[in-house]
Amino acid sequence: MLEAINADGKSIVSKQTLKGMNFLQLADYSTDQILYLLNEAVELKKLQKQGKPHPFLSGKVLGMIFEKSSTRTRVSFEVGMLQLGGHAIFLSSKDIQLGRGESISDTAKVLSRYIDGIMIRTFSHESVEELASHATVPVINGLTDLQHPTQVLADLLTILEHKGKLAGLKLCYIGDGNNNMAHSLMEGAVKVGMNISIASPEGYMPNEGITEKAVQAGTETGSTVTITNNPIEAIKDADVVVTDVWTSMGQEEETAIRLKAFQAFQVNEELCSHANKDYIFLHCLPAHRGEEVTSEIIDGPHSVVFDEAENRLHAQKAILKLLLA
Ligand code: CP
Ligand code: NVA
Repeated sequence: MLEAINADGKSIVSKQTLKGMNFLQLADYSTDQILYLLNEAVELKKLQKQGKPHPFLSGKVLGMIFEKSSTRTRVSFEVGMLQLGGHAIFLSSKDIQLGRGESISDTAKVLSRYIDGIMIRTFSHESVEELASHATVPVINGLTDLQHPTQVLADLLTILEHKGKLAGLKLCYIGDGNNNMAHSLMEGAVKVGMNISIASPEGYMPNEGITEKAVQAGTETGSTVTITNNPIEAIKDADVVVTDVWTSMGQEEETAIRLKAFQAFQVNEELCSHANKDYIFLHCLPAHRGEEVTSEIIDGPHSVVFDEAENRLHAQKAILKLLLA
């Protein structure tokens, strides 16, 4: 099953019904469902590249609540809805009543009367869970402090395109293990049969509950999860090297402490010399050159970060089509 999809879009992935589901974290999705989403993304990308209209969401409206900044997520969701024949409404939490204390449950119930889906980017993961529990339309997590699942679906698509497969690859993540990217990568990797190793400094290790569940999920797909403080051990023979900012949104006051704590975890030429020769480098962006990654790496021949950014559009269109149509 894990080999059932390939980069040219040919697939024997069984048809799934995702209609009406939320997209809060990858752990909620089965291997088949993730492969189905990836397959759909490959198909939608083809249609878009061929300039063929694909208005699967004609007349549908997505509300997008943002409590944090965004370039990629905002633009790719908005453009995605447009290309699918629908419409997106940007709802800054500064402007809607949620920002003035209206409850999440009332917001969910009211929005559900107007629109066909809600995408939300916020701080607390619990807020997204609460929104989803009161909404009667699908809720999509556009990033919380704990998870960034739409990004990781795009990352899986990017890896698939560049490597032609997912199962059996080694993905290594260097940096803040206790952030949204590390957690979602862990959940996504084990679902598609990739081995994942995470190297982080003490004090910045991944959430234990998420790690335990990922280890458990890995026993079903044959994936391993390795957590270490040693970046060289983590990157050894990696096919895919990933990092993320050392200071995530909302942690700005800790910047100075974090800059020190992560010094030995920079992704640079020396560290990457331990990866496989044909490794690819991913970063969800925005990046800080000279901090978590050097310019030689992110702007170098192994980097696929702009394919990755583009794939936000295609992966999210798959989510939107399958959940909302
Ligand atoms: N990678 C990502 O989510 O980017 P934005 O913060 O610009 O949306
Ligand atoms: N970990 C980063 C990801 C940004 C897309 C943050 O939360 O700021």
